[in-house]
Amino acid sequence: MASTEDKPASKENASSWKDSIYNPRTGELMGRTASSWALILLFYLVFYCFLAGMFALTTWVMLLTLDDYVPRYRDRVPSPGLVILPNVPTITFNKSDPLKYTQYVQDLESFLQRYNDMEQEKNEDCPQGVHFLQDDTEDMTKKVCSFKRNSLSFCSGLSDTNYGYSEGKPCVLLKMNRIIGLKPHGEPYINCTAKTDTPIVIPHYPTGGRIDKMYFPYYGKKAHENYVQPLVAVKLALTKEDYNKELVVECRVEGTNLRNNDERDKYLGRVTFRVKVSE
Ligand SMILES: *[C@@H]1O[C@H](CO)[C@@H](O)[C@H](O)[C@H]1NC(C)=O
Ligand SMILES: *[C@@H]1O[C@H](CO)[C@@H](O)[C@H](O)[C@H]1NC(C)=O
Repeated sequence: MASTEDKPASKENASSWKDSIYNPRTGELMGRTASSWALILLFYLVFYCFLAGMFALTTWVMLLTLDDYVPRYRDRVPSPGLVILPNVPTITFNKSDPLKYTQYVQDLESFLQRYNDMEQEKNEDCPQGVHFLQDDTEDMTKKVCSFKRNSLSFCSGLSDTNYGYSEGKPCVLLKMNRIIGLKPHGEPYINCTAKTDTPIVIPHYPTGGRIDKMYFPYYGKKAHENYVQPLVAVKLALTKEDYNKELVVECRVEGTNLRNNDERDKYLGRVTFRVKVSE
């Protein structure tokens, strides 16, 4: 008897397992009726649409508050890095072999195209020695202070189109990275020195490596579209005794509040490069 009672029980088990997928008597699928499933789907549909809507709305509101001209979040104005041109860690060439230095000369020449008189005449002659502060104007664009190539004298590429490379006295350009709103205090200048036993004469152009404060502050890519960075050039007046040696040259921004001796960032307000000239 027990066995006859067992059979229907196991049958029922099997059918209840199947019923849990689909129960033909009640029309339930996975324990729910079609209308119950429809309600759940509808709920999630509405719920996710609502989430997507919230996301789109907050993004839109946030974008509305952003200004193309001024970055929104700036906790403090950082110090700029110093960059050299030709932008290589080691400037090495044979002064008797133009093929070895034409690339450097070309880099300098193409970089300085923006500083041609033709371009710079469109810009302002700003008052010297003071920050060139500009109020917001109707169209939001800012004026640009002109910087002319000829202030780089023997490193301007105008009098010596080889920038000193053919005579073994190479010119190197220095520029500070642009930082929006930066207004250096004091009288900033760049000082380059070579770490050698016999000191190397390094003339700086403009005189004393001076960076005029008129080129600050920078108002950003969009507002200050044609902004030109002030440059300093140094001419490494090497002599025969300096050839075939790797000389280390260090340049720093001095005379101002900008940082130039950060332990962790060796490009903050300073730069070190090597020069090796042969003949
Ligand atoms: C530099 O170039 C000159 C002329 O091409 C060549 O005579 C001389 O050996 C070169 N010097 C070195 C160190 O390669
Ligand atoms: C440039 O730096 C060198 C080495 O640090 C220093 O001896 C020299 O006085 C500095 N020149 C100026 C003008 O600051």
